[in-house]
Amino acid sequence: MRYFIITYGCQMNKSDSERLSSFLKDNGLSVASSIKEADLILVNICSVRQKAVDRAEAKIKEIKKLKKTICLTGCLLDKDRKRFEKIVDFIFKIKDVSDLHKVIKKKKKIIPDYFKIKPDQSNFIPIMTGCNNFCTYCVVPYTRGREISRKPEEIIKEAEYLIKKGAKIIWLLGQNVNSYEHNFPELLKKVYQLPGKFWLQFISSHPKDFSEELIKAMKRCRINYLNLPVQSGDDEILKKMNRPYNIKSYKEKIKKIKKEIPGIALSTDIIVGFPGEKRKHFENTKKLFKEIGYDMAYINKYSPREGTEANLLKDTVSPKEKKKRERELTAILAETALKNNKKYLGKTIEVLVIEKNIAVTKSNKKIKINPSEIGHFKKIKVTKACSWGLSSL
Ligand code: 5AD
Ligand code: SF4
Repeated sequence: MRYFIITYGCQMNKSDSERLSSFLKDNGLSVASSIKEADLILVNICSVRQKAVDRAEAKIKEIKKLKKTICLTGCLLDKDRKRFEKIVDFIFKIKDVSDLHKVIKKKKKIIPDYFKIKPDQSNFIPIMTGCNNFCTYCVVPYTRGREISRKPEEIIKEAEYLIKKGAKIIWLLGQNVNSYEHNFPELLKKVYQLPGKFWLQFISSHPKDFSEELIKAMKRCRINYLNLPVQSGDDEILKKMNRPYNIKSYKEKIKKIKKEIPGIALSTDIIVGFPGEKRKHFENTKKLFKEIGYDMAYINKYSPREGTEANLLKDTVSPKEKKKRERELTAILAETALKNNKKYLGKTIEVLVIEKNIAVTKSNKKIKINPSEIGHFKKIKVTKACSWGLSSL
């Protein structure tokens, strides 16, 4: 029996798909090179924005024509479950992968605990799942449930295993790593101390509890990239989003981070067109973008989600205006990222080859390179800089 996994959404979903893949292999299935060649199709869905749900639905309908067995998992809202039940063969929660035996009909090798499944090749280690923050726009607390932290020993063992298997970057994943129950800065340091040559990264954190201790740990672990989602540059909107910090405190944190780790690359997540976001509120987001000078930003157009608190508010900003705001922010980002990238010009830096002609820097920037062996670190000289990456050609 051959399987094929289609993944939508964030790194957490990608990481889940990797574990799913290992699980299926352990249970005697093999991976197919295309949908056509597979007997079993697994769709790992994301419900953060309506567009992702619609895309997944369209894809499933397309695959259905090929008469394949389709299983659905991932971030799924109860109201969508009913809709999807009609078009897929089986729905399971990612933490209940063992339910899949009903589909693969092999009982002897089923591993009941999802976290005990080790992917063959991975950079991702989920350290916690779920979220307790209930930002008013977000489905994650509903689709993934409350926060559950994994034990540090388990995470360290897994990191050791992955490094031995050849992982060169270890990404510690959580919806909000700052609320990791067993001391996140300590965990970072312990993973960093493991033998072997690898880079350490983490994603994602919440500005409300981003601590000085964490900044120190990042410095010690030579972390040079941080995603700190601000979501809006306006205090009034932040309040409506149930994001309990203000722009002043966010900027102070960024200032401290930049001081402790000079040259750190910063990225953020933003929502444009949140209910009630007027021009004046949006101008504050633009101002923040100019002031911080981000290297990267994930700019999202607000999408009303059933069951969330913000869904009770009127979606006041038109799609056209949301698009316009997205473009305006992208234009600022293009300038700030270019300015940051130009600082690399003429410098010789260490990169990790991730594709034949592409490497990644420790600051999480892509760089074009001459054909090189994938999975190796190498030193190269940066010769070109643009907004969305570097080049050594
Ligand atoms: N609409 C638009 N963007 C959203 N995000 C989360 N919920 C929504 C929504 N309803 C964005 C946030 C979050 C990222 C993963 O997705 O910016 O950080
Ligand atoms: Fe969603 Fe907010 Fe939790 Fe992030 S912190 S997953 S945006 S509720």
